[in-house]
Amino acid sequence: MTDKTSNQMWGGRFAAGPDAIMEAINASIGFDQRMAAQDIAGSRAHAAMLAATGVITDSDADAIREGLLTVLSEIESGNFQFSTALEDIHMNVEARLKEIIGEPAGRLHTGRSRNDQVATDFKLWVRDQFDAAEKGLLALIGALVDQAEAGADWVMPGFTHLQTAQPVTWGHHMMAYVEMFGRDLSRVRDARKRMNESPLGSAALAGTSFPIDREMTAEALGFDRPTANSLDAVSDRDFALEFLSTASICAMHLSRFAEELVIWSSAQFRFVTLSDRFSTGSSIMPQKKNPDAAELIRAKVGRIFGANTALMMVMKGLPLAYSKDMQEDKEQVFDAADNWMLALAAMEGMVKDMTGNRDSLAAAAGSGFSTATDLADWMVRVLKVPFRDAHHVTGALVAMAEGRGVDLPDLTLEDMKSVHEGITEDIFSVLGVENSVNSRMSYGGTAPAQVRAQVARWKEILG
Ligand code: ARG
Repeated sequence: MTDKTSNQMWGGRFAAGPDAIMEAINASIGFDQRMAAQDIAGSRAHAAMLAATGVITDSDADAIREGLLTVLSEIESGNFQFSTALEDIHMNVEARLKEIIGEPAGRLHTGRSRNDQVATDFKLWVRDQFDAAEKGLLALIGALVDQAEAGADWVMPGFTHLQTAQPVTWGHHMMAYVEMFGRDLSRVRDARKRMNESPLGSAALAGTSFPIDREMTAEALGFDRPTANSLDAVSDRDFALEFLSTASICAMHLSRFAEELVIWSSAQFRFVTLSDRFSTGSSIMPQKKNPDAAELIRAKVGRIFGANTALMMVMKGLPLAYSKDMQEDKEQVFDAADNWMLALAAMEGMVKDMTGNRDSLAAAAGSGFSTATDLADWMVRVLKVPFRDAHHVTGALVAMAEGRGVDLPDLTLEDMKSVHEGITEDIFSVLGVENSVNSRMSYGGTAPAQVRAQVARWKEILG
């Protein structure tokens, strides 16, 4: 018999129990209890398969199934005593099962190891989060499409270098983010499909001599198939890394939009008004309405990208197969998942509630010589002037307007002619902002008609 203080699950060869520090560094139960439901689902599938293949008896399998359901309800109702001495969720569940059903509990771990068990549990957990991310992204995309549809023809300044560049439409700007989150959605779906193979039955690293049926457990757990190499299966965390890298790219997109909302909601811009529901006040400055949700979404990319980097570093250079280093995967993924879902939901709420200030957007759209390119294009089209020369002439007109503190449409025809003789009255027809956006009918361009076509395409995709 083993010493009473050594580990009851694996302490057979140990004369003494672990040092308190050893226990502290080794235990993962503080966080991997979040995978309790997945662990029990995996064990139930495994036990049913062991009975179906004759490795254990039906009555043992029945006892195990019933016992696991009891354990699950204890955990779900908060009546479960988690033990650090039992290290992790796998051994906590199994030890409790033994208390409830006795001997048959000891047969559950036949043809299995904690290595394939943890890989299976964690995959199931991450898979659920991919599904949650898909839902969150679809909701956010839907909210953006609605904004785009409502303001398909609202004009606003388009920026490069955050300097006024050319007028664009509000709808076009919203749909730019729809494209970004649409790519995130497709990354989520790709990665979810790729990861959906069951590690269960890979055992410690080499597979098992028991006549197990891996197809059966894979199917029971909703996997497409079992993994094809047991060494790889127990040491693979690509699915977690793909989750984190997909989350990182999406969080980066969220941060860009969040940054725009911070700028746009400022008194200097007034492009949008955020709802009270997604703003906060200042305890000292009564006039303040702060875009805190946007700022926090902007910041989330930091911790999510940090998690991605951390897990990459954990996995780098690990020899096959399992090493305990890999236990460091979960906290990063849990934290990133929580914050990704929260950021998606907060952004969706903000977008749904925000009001684009059409008048401020329009006023800004016309300032900063935003139709200078239209003027140059007119000279190319009507006067057949080479674009480079037209660019130069337009630059001179901009300088003239700037010197007088007016915009391009405020110059007279004489002013125009003093720079280029051939210019006619017709030039004024292209200096208007509406005309500018309406003319940009190239596929994917900012013209309201193009925006509406993209809105229709996305509505079809969203169903
Ligand atoms: N708690 C462990 C983890 O999260 C479970 C696997 C332990 N395997 C082992 N051979 N010690 O990785």
